[in-house]
Amino acid sequence: MEAYGWEWFIERFEKLSKIDLTAYKRPQMERRINSFMRTANAANYKDFIDLLNKDQQLYKKFLEHITINVSEFFRNINHWQIMEKEIVPLLLKEKKSLKIWSAGCSTGEEPYSLAMMLRENGWSLAEPIYATDIDKDVLSKASLGVYSDKAMEGVPSNIKNKYFKSHPEGFEVNDDIKKMVKFQQHNLLRDNFPKNYDLILCRNVVIYFTEETKEDLYKRFTEALRPKGILFIGSTEQIFQAREIGLNSVATFFYQKD
Ligand SMILES: C[S@@+](CC[C@H](N)C(=O)[O-])C[C@H]1O[C@@H](n2cnc3c(N)ncnc32)[C@H](O)[C@@H]1O
Repeated sequence: MEAYGWEWFIERFEKLSKIDLTAYKRPQMERRINSFMRTANAANYKDFIDLLNKDQQLYKKFLEHITINVSEFFRNINHWQIMEKEIVPLLLKEKKSLKIWSAGCSTGEEPYSLAMMLRENGWSLAEPIYATDIDKDVLSKASLGVYSDKAMEGVPSNIKNKYFKSHPEGFEVNDDIKKMVKFQQHNLLRDNFPKNYDLILCRNVVIYFTEETKEDLYKRFTEALRPKGILFIGSTEQIFQAREIGLNSVATFFYQKD
């Protein structure tokens, strides 16, 4: 192992953060890390690890930088329309109330969008939506449920009027919608997966993972679904080995377990 080289860095960083960077695509990750190091004035990986150990603020900023947690309400609205018109009605043919997991939920826009859609249609949940992310800071923001005017741009006005209240910083999600979501820290690369879900959303999370990691993750998501349960993925994603792992494409970006 090269002294203080990339391998050394990822080993040290895993000790510090429990994040295994070998699961992420190396060129993109290295580029992102190197650019961050330049802005932090770290000359090499050794200096950088020392800095991350010393400076809690910098460490937090760095985690944000590498986990890239941008999100939006009703991101890719046409896919949400398919969800509303086809996917949820399909799931409700077999069960009256649903068990849902939003994996990699970032600041909460995704699980809240879903909660509002369910409420709007009078559809029920068997338990609060399990909304997870690796990053504790985004989860605290998600639990607060406060969004700037800019973040509200994609929210249809009827939804905004019904499910948000005014807040000094913009808008706040109403308490009855907040109660429909339970946020919890969960690392998709390390932690056990729960079981028996009707619907799992994992969108714009795996883009930085290696092919091998993605394949393994999709297998584990499939195991976490009940038979005929559905996995909803991001608009730039595709599951190449879907049939092999027992998934069928039911609409673009939606896969149903056998
Ligand atoms: C771009 S956001 C996606 C948010 C939302 N799903 C959407 O599509 O709008 C990606 C999220 O994945 C999370 N993430 C990255 N690696 C993860 C891991 N190993 N386990 C759990 N979450 C992870 C990041 O912290 C980030 O909040």
